[in-house]
Amino acid sequence: MSTSTRPEPQAPQRTDFEQDFLWGCATSSYQIEGAANVDGRVESIWDRFAATPGRIRDGSSGAVACDHYHRWPEDLDIGRDLGLNAYRFSIAWPRIFSEVGGKPNQKGLDFYSRLVDGMLERGLQPWATLYHWDLPQYLQDRGGWNERSTVDAFLELADAMTRKLGDRVKHWITHNEPWCTAIIGNFEGWHAPGLTDFKTALQVSHHVLLSHGKAVPLIRANVPDAKAGISLSLHPLRAASADPRDIAAMERHDALRYRWFLDPLYGRGYPARILELVGADAPAVLPGDLEAIAAPTDFLGVNYYFPETIADDPGHAPLGARVLPPQGEEITAMGWPVEPAGMAELLARVEKDYRPGPIYVTENGSCYEDVVAVDGRIEDTRRRHYLMRHLGALHDAVKAGVPVKGYFAWSLVDNFEWAEGYLKRFGLVHIDYDTQQRRLKDSAKWYRSFLKAE
Ligand code: FCB
Repeated sequence: MSTSTRPEPQAPQRTDFEQDFLWGCATSSYQIEGAANVDGRVESIWDRFAATPGRIRDGSSGAVACDHYHRWPEDLDIGRDLGLNAYRFSIAWPRIFSEVGGKPNQKGLDFYSRLVDGMLERGLQPWATLYHWDLPQYLQDRGGWNERSTVDAFLELADAMTRKLGDRVKHWITHNEPWCTAIIGNFEGWHAPGLTDFKTALQVSHHVLLSHGKAVPLIRANVPDAKAGISLSLHPLRAASADPRDIAAMERHDALRYRWFLDPLYGRGYPARILELVGADAPAVLPGDLEAIAAPTDFLGVNYYFPETIADDPGHAPLGARVLPPQGEEITAMGWPVEPAGMAELLARVEKDYRPGPIYVTENGSCYEDVVAVDGRIEDTRRRHYLMRHLGALHDAVKAGVPVKGYFAWSLVDNFEWAEGYLKRFGLVHIDYDTQQRRLKDSAKWYRSFLKAE
């Protein structure tokens, strides 16, 4: 079917949601900022990883990216003109600390201070993420998140940033997607730092969660009226078949993918089933750690992209459960299935299982190959439909009583998509990487009309 003849989905109206519902876009530092060697920024694990041949599909890096470090006023103008009332960004740790135990870099602090002022001037509520994967390389050289001392280093970052921005930034996300930090970066190895050791990955997950839990009271101490939380990447799961082996595999996968993170955050400790399965690979947990991780939070961030189908596969490390590639369904250019109802289902499950308080969808979006027409138009019908249909699912979740209070589309602009480099575009706004020109895609124009209730 040609994109222009697809049936138009039904979408809700902005007025179907509460008036104070947050409508944002999300970005992250390494994916958009560029300016890798500017104003005292030091090397991050993603600079090192990208410089390693074969790691990034197009051989690129985030060295220039969208040059947001210099072009942020234009990007924030775009966000304001779309009608957003919130904006999620992350802080590049290597701009703030250039060595262990050093003083914060004034130029790095000032950059984020200007950026936050820019958001407030444009009516965008700032949502700061402290860690969206760009660990300083000097910390990785000492073992990275596998080392307990990285927790202390993270607390120094949290302290410096909340002191600097806490008078203006009230919403703080400690970590983006600990699963990716831990498992993709340290076991699957296709993200920085590129390690492939399961024991390391589990220890990393523990230190990341611990750093979250210890940061929460610190954020509260430094920021009047702070709202602190964490963003997890979660998928609704389906078993590949009704075969009890597939169902058991799905349950093992679920225990690691979902419960391993959520159970300790909500005071239940690590799932016994996983501890039993992983044996000696279990992380070292010191007395008091689980209490620290369970620090009460003000909200939960959920990043939703797609559901996963799981099959039993005894040879598949670490748990004999394999995620199947989607078959025959609608899929995006990432090979991810499109299933808006999965978002409502996931949000309802999280609410039922943990009652985490207010929930925010802190990322949701889609990747397609965009074509810029001669007149400059980018008719990204499938991305526009993905957005419309997911807002429908969001509305369904609200109607079902899930306390969802905001939605951040991933992403404002096309950007460096990690191991895929610049080959994959998720932006509502197109970037021409030769000229750095920004152009609104049809999806951005639709979001604008939704937000402005035109
Ligand atoms: C999420 C990441 C984000 C982006 C999207 C597509 O897992 O948090 O940085 O890469 O996927």
